[in-house]
Amino acid sequence: MPSYLCILALFAYFSVTRVLGVTYSLSDNVVGNGFYDAFNWEAIDDPTHGRVKYVDQATSRSQNLTYASGDSFILRADFKTYLGNGGPGRQSVRILTKRTYTTHVAVFDVRHMPQGCGTWPAIWETAESNWPNGGEIDIVEGVNDQAPNAVALHTGSGCSMPPGRDQTGTNGQLDCNAAVNGNAGCGVRLSEQNSYGPPFNNNGGGWFAMERNNNFIKVWFWPRNSGSVPSDVRNGAQRVNTDGWGKPAAHFPNTQCNIAQHFAAHNIIINLTLCGDWAGNVYGQSGCPSTCVDYVNNNPSSFRDAYFDFAAMRVYQ
Ligand SMILES: *[C@@H]1O[C@H](CO)[C@@H](O)[C@H](O)[C@H]1NC(C)=O
Ligand SMILES: *[C@@H]1O[C@H](CO)[C@@H](O)[C@H](O)[C@H]1NC(C)=O
Repeated sequence: MPSYLCILALFAYFSVTRVLGVTYSLSDNVVGNGFYDAFNWEAIDDPTHGRVKYVDQATSRSQNLTYASGDSFILRADFKTYLGNGGPGRQSVRILTKRTYTTHVAVFDVRHMPQGCGTWPAIWETAESNWPNGGEIDIVEGVNDQAPNAVALHTGSGCSMPPGRDQTGTNGQLDCNAAVNGNAGCGVRLSEQNSYGPPFNNNGGGWFAMERNNNFIKVWFWPRNSGSVPSDVRNGAQRVNTDGWGKPAAHFPNTQCNIAQHFAAHNIIINLTLCGDWAGNVYGQSGCPSTCVDYVNNNPSSFRDAYFDFAAMRVYQ
């Protein structure tokens, strides 16, 4: 082939790759014991006033509140101890990535999430030292077994979402400003009941994925046995192409929110609290017995299923 045709062919090849969209490369493949390397343990007082005591890594290992083996990482609340009324809360775990991320895709392959009255689990991202001005992205969150999953952004003032968006979930508030609407943020409820709590666990879990760049933030969910799980997600591929993932569950465009300005470099955080500002406040409407704090203090065995089982966390950049 004449050399100018070669050049034309190469040019066509690169144009096509570009049209096919953005691909991201695997930067963190966190599996099993890898969670101990990728995360720091935050033995802090729960900022959301939950009935928990977050422990350090040595304690979580010795109490078996975290446990890694093969392709499983378990993170749980204590389910053995009766608590006195005035003393510290139920032992639990909050972990934060050592690395921070700006433009990235995060994929969470989750087999099981914490369930039970009083539980408030979350997989989310923020810039802790600069909250809420550095932004917060809640990828997985809910309370007291109330499905479906709730996705939300929380920011400083001047960031909101348009009402009509290309997503499968349902809008809550549109203003992301943490200082209004009781810090509800701009939320989206997923359309799948099995995206949270007992229905999620009964289905063997599934995949959550979040893509953040300066144009948008999107969240997807695929139940474990769904025929629509993209193969790059299912296989934990070296590269992912989010253009092949279909309509997201939640879509936050930059049309009324300068994402580059409202979102700093984020750590990924996984925490499990009990009661507190959200789970405690709506406990009575959740069909749960007694009061939240009393239930946590006196029913340790009810927290046997209050655990995450992660098959993997993969970050692409
Ligand atoms: C620790 O937790 C794991 C996962 O739940 C479990 O398989 C294992 O038996 C537990 N070990 C002990 C000593 O309880
Ligand atoms: C985790 O802590 C943060 C505050 O630092 C809070 O916004 C989030 O809702 C908490 N979630 C849980 C489940 O503890």
